[in-house]
This record gives sequence, C-alpha cells and structure tokens, in this order.
Amino acid sequence: MSRILVVGNATLDIINVVEQYPQEDQEVRAQAQHINRGGNAANTAVVLAQLGHRCSWAGTLAKEADGILIREDLQQHSVDLDAVHTVSTGKVPTSYISLSRENGSRTIVHYRDLPEYPAEQFIRIPLDEFDWLHFEGRNLEEIAKMMRHARQVAANTPVSLEAEKVRAGIEKLFPLADVVMFSSDYAKHRGATSAKEFLQQFGTQQPDARLTCTWGEEGAYGLERDGRLLHAPASAPAEVVDTLGAGDVFNAGLIDQLVRGEQLDVALNGASALAGKKCGVYGLDNLV
Ligand code: ADP
Ligand code: FRU
Repeated sequence: MSRILVVGNATLDIINVVEQYPQEDQEVRAQAQHINRGGNAANTAVVLAQLGHRCSWAGTLAKEADGILIREDLQQHSVDLDAVHTVSTGKVPTSYISLSRENGSRTIVHYRDLPEYPAEQFIRIPLDEFDWLHFEGRNLEEIAKMMRHARQVAANTPVSLEAEKVRAGIEKLFPLADVVMFSSDYAKHRGATSAKEFLQQFGTQQPDARLTCTWGEEGAYGLERDGRLLHAPASAPAEVVDTLGAGDVFNAGLIDQLVRGEQLDVALNGASALAGKKCGVYGLDNLV
C-alpha cells in the first residue's frame, strides 16, 4: 500500500443510457439514468483506493447539495479529503453524458462555474507523507506552481501528469513530471494519427520523462527514457458497455504498477487490462 495524492477535478455526472447516440434536434427516451461522482482526478483516486492505496484527493468542492454528494461518495470510497478546498459560492462542474448501448461510447457536454484548486492551498499539504503525486493537466499556471513546489520539498517523490485536453501552454508542465500520460485527443491535436507515431515524434523532445499514450481499442503505447517504444494491446471485454472513465482507470492502473516498482512495460499491460475490464462493466466500482 502506498500513499498517493491526486490533484484535479471532481464532477457531477448525469448519465443517460441511450439505445444509440441521438441525432441533433431529435428527442429520444433514455433507458436508464445514473447520477454519479465523476471527474478525471476523482475517478483515478477512487480506483487507486480500490487497488489498496491510501489515496488523497486535492480539488475544489462547493458547499451545495451536489458538492455534498461528491464529498460523501469519495468518503465512501475511502478517499482522504483533508486537502479539499471548499468554497461557499458556485456549483460543482456538471457533465451531461449520453452513454450509447450500441457501442459503449460516451458523449459529454460539460459545464463549469467553480474556482480551480489554488496553489496556495496545495503548499499546505505535507507532501513528505506521499509516495506518488499525480496532477491533472488543467489550470496550468497554478498547477505549474504546485509541481515546482513539489520538486522543491519532495524532490524524490515521483510525479505524474495527465495531458488529456489540449490547453495552451500545457507543454510547460512536461519537464516537471517523471511520467506524462497523454490522451489520443492530445496526440491528434499535435497532428499524430496513432499513439506510436505521436510518441516517436514527440518523445525526442521530452527525454527526461516516461511517456504513455492511450488509443481506445488499440490499447496503449509507452516510451521509456532510453527511447524504447512499448505497446500494450487493449484487453477486450466480452461486451463493451461503458467506456466513460476508461482513461482515468488506465491512469490509476499505471500509477498502481509504477509505485509498486514495476517496469513500464508491465505497468502498461496491467493498466490496459484494468481499463479493458472497466469497459465491460458500468461505472468504476468492483474493478478489483
Ligand atoms: P479516454 O477515456 O481518455 O478516452 P481511451 O479511450 O484512450 O481513454 O481508453 C483508455 C484505455 O482504455 C485504452 O488504452 C485501452 O486500454 C482501454 N480501452 C478503451 N476502449 C476500449 C475498448 N473498446 N476495449 C478495450 N479496452 C479499451
Ligand atoms: C471521465 C470524466 C467524467 C467527467 C468528464 C470530465 O473521464 O472524468 O467523469 O464528467 O470526464 O471531463
């Protein structure tokens, strides 16, 4: 068991399960509706806790009914909330999600009106208690301050960074991380047509970090510091029913393996197997 700090977002996910993804201006009836805690960092924290780690989440919550729902959910999943920043105005971010029964795809409309997690709060966290620090690459100025602070006060603690969404200036964070986890969206934005091509082209610019890039059904690729390119095929479940959060589960699986001291090839395969298992079930519970 390791102590892991995850910094980033928690959301309220309103998930409508639909037969197939609707057309614009169509009215369809959902077959089921689930209202869950979501958010990349919160999801990754919950899965790391399931994997047996003592996990803390650092993010912002509003003092309102949905903020309370998320807080209670994280507590139920044994995620420590000491580092949470609570604000008395605003509303937790909300994702309206259509989850297609046809192929498990998830289409997300996201709304946010909440202050981001401040570096001021982060510097009060006793970082020497942690074996691993993970950051969601958002709110870039503040995250850069947090990562630099971590490098100063916990120089030997491994740091990972998720680069999922394309945000101007996110590249400045990469040299501050030991592991950077890229999404296919990010790689496509950089002009790549596959994870392999992305890592081969981009890897030479980041010689100090280990890099990964996920690509849905094609699994995930990794690039070691010495330039070795690695591939973990996707682990297909009997039926793909829900891909919401597959990337968050992959990241949790990767951190779990690396913090246990596994090599990157083993970690990639373990993470891909866990993310594949997730795609075969609804939600993020009972993955272990
Ligand atoms: P995101 O949730 O960020 O869109 P991806 O779709 O790239 O992330 O998926 C992350 C990982 O989840 C992939 O690398 C793969 O291991 C696994 N995965 C995603 N979709 C499938 C699928 N249809 N079948 C099996 N595994 C999948
Ligand atoms: C899944 C997820 C959802 C959330 C959205 C935020 O990866 O974290 O739970 O609504 O992405 O971007």
